[in-house]
Amino acid sequence: MCGIIGYVGQRPALPILIDGLRRLEYRGYDSAGVALVDGDKLRVSKSAGRLSVLEQLLDFKATSTTGVGHTRWATHGAPTDANAHPHLDATGRIAVIHNGQIENASALRTYLERQGFVFRSETDTEALAQLISRFYQGNLEQAVRQALHEISGAYAIAVVCADEPGVIVAARNGGPLLIGVGKGEHLLASDAAAILAHTSQVVYLSDGEMARITADHVSLTTLDAMPVTKDVEEIEWSLDEIELSGYDHFMLKEITEQPAALENCLRGRIEPRAGAVHLGGLVDCTRELTRAKRFILTGCGTAWHAALVGEYLFEELIRTPTETEYASEFRYRNPVIDDGTVVIAVSQSGETADTLAALVEAKQRGAAVLGVVNVVGSSIARETDAGIYLHVGPEIGVASTKAFTAQVAVLAMMACYLGRRKHLSPAAASQFITALAQIPKQIADILERADQAKIVAERYCGMENWLYLGRGYNYPVALEGALKLKEISYIHAEGLPAAEMKHGPIALIHEGMPVVVIATAGSQYDRISNNIAQVRARGGSIIAVATEGDREIAKLAEHVLYVPDTIEPLQPLLTVVPLQLIAYHAALLRGCNVDKPRNLAKSVTVE
Ligand code: F6R
Repeated sequence: MCGIIGYVGQRPALPILIDGLRRLEYRGYDSAGVALVDGDKLRVSKSAGRLSVLEQLLDFKATSTTGVGHTRWATHGAPTDANAHPHLDATGRIAVIHNGQIENASALRTYLERQGFVFRSETDTEALAQLISRFYQGNLEQAVRQALHEISGAYAIAVVCADEPGVIVAARNGGPLLIGVGKGEHLLASDAAAILAHTSQVVYLSDGEMARITADHVSLTTLDAMPVTKDVEEIEWSLDEIELSGYDHFMLKEITEQPAALENCLRGRIEPRAGAVHLGGLVDCTRELTRAKRFILTGCGTAWHAALVGEYLFEELIRTPTETEYASEFRYRNPVIDDGTVVIAVSQSGETADTLAALVEAKQRGAAVLGVVNVVGSSIARETDAGIYLHVGPEIGVASTKAFTAQVAVLAMMACYLGRRKHLSPAAASQFITALAQIPKQIADILERADQAKIVAERYCGMENWLYLGRGYNYPVALEGALKLKEISYIHAEGLPAAEMKHGPIALIHEGMPVVVIATAGSQYDRISNNIAQVRARGGSIIAVATEGDREIAKLAEHVLYVPDTIEPLQPLLTVVPLQLIAYHAALLRGCNVDKPRNLAKSVTVE
């Protein structure tokens, strides 16, 4: 989604802005631009296409020390030069960059056009630039404040003005924005990755807050001009974590990082021998959670798949009714939230618009709301009453991989933590935690045989339709495997609970069609073996994910991808890894840009 970077300080702003925009590229964009305050003039350059196109328009000798930059992911209005940000007011003295969507833009536009303002783009942002200009009387902060009172919608904005060099005015209402604090300089960004090369000290803006930023001062206020005081916080991520560090793609880096990422996620939280789980984030609400009558887990995409595994874990370990809902459905369908309902939002970025809105809706209806989030200080983390961070470092690859395994691991820890306070015996908890502690090493074992997944990808990447089947805990993994394949290799893939096949989808199976079946040891093994037989009878090619040592499966399948043995509830943490690798290799073989899949953005902050 769109990205914001800003700089005000002593150094030339342009290289800092371009470096920031490059670090925001992973979020997806289709145009980019910068505005520099140069003496008493604004110099704006913008273009559709990649950053390299923009760079050709720039004069890197520019010495301006104040500027803002933007990457736009078109939602309303085509990705053209004119629609790219920054947007100028009619006088060319005020420039605005904006993430989000102004809902009353068309009414504002009509009003401003009647007053003689001429528009050059199709964007909502230009209406905001004109409105700020309409209110400007020598005080940019005041003009922005007045303009924001007239708009509705979600935004994170940064504004510069030729008449006030050395000043950036920023505001947030529903889009992430943070201020980086340096020595004699400040940065502004929608994502910590954009500024981490310069500082790890940040101040997070909250919704309804504004900032006037100069090289040596930041003043924070509410939209109603009430002063706000905030602590400077430290970003935990290192620069190395947001760089490729020798890998060809972030997706491969993040798949490979999973053993270490999960070690971090589990560190200090589990005690295998005692069967104990320590979750500091839940301490204050443990009583409420153990008394909960119902859990609703919500999220989107991969996070929703992790939540679905969570549903199975919660019902098995806590024995409390649990449902998993797409956040996009939950937020609009008048859900029943009664006393004792706990809603848990699962989200890597903590910024997904539907998940955030579902959470806000649940909160308004009186539910206790929790977050399972990766990005510290993100909107969902701030909206929730309590929660647990994933602690897996930044996920840059558009296809979510390490976040999925960490989300499942966190939900497993939560299930065990609450289960122990209800029905789970110390022995059962100890067995569960002991198995969980082995997962990072077991994923490392799977990664050592990554070439097996590559062989499968080589054999079948030319096939345009794949099926993924699973049962029980591995049903969500089938959904996740199919999603990974389609989103980065553009192969049509469908994930199903294996038994559903005979209710319709079996009609799709034809000679040679790749059917990935998760057939690990456990209560579902015989049933899934029957499903394999049904597929084979119709000519489908079976790619099985099976438990090490299972020789029988090799007689039924064309390819077997072995994973180490673990208890059934934790199998998704292992079975998903070969599927991530198949998707990665299939995408490469088909010439797809793994880290920048078409039509996709990293964090979906619009509806
Ligand atoms: C798929 C993927 C998406 C995200 C979804 C939710 O690989 O990345 O489906 O899982 O957009 O994102 P978060 O977890 O940031 O809320």
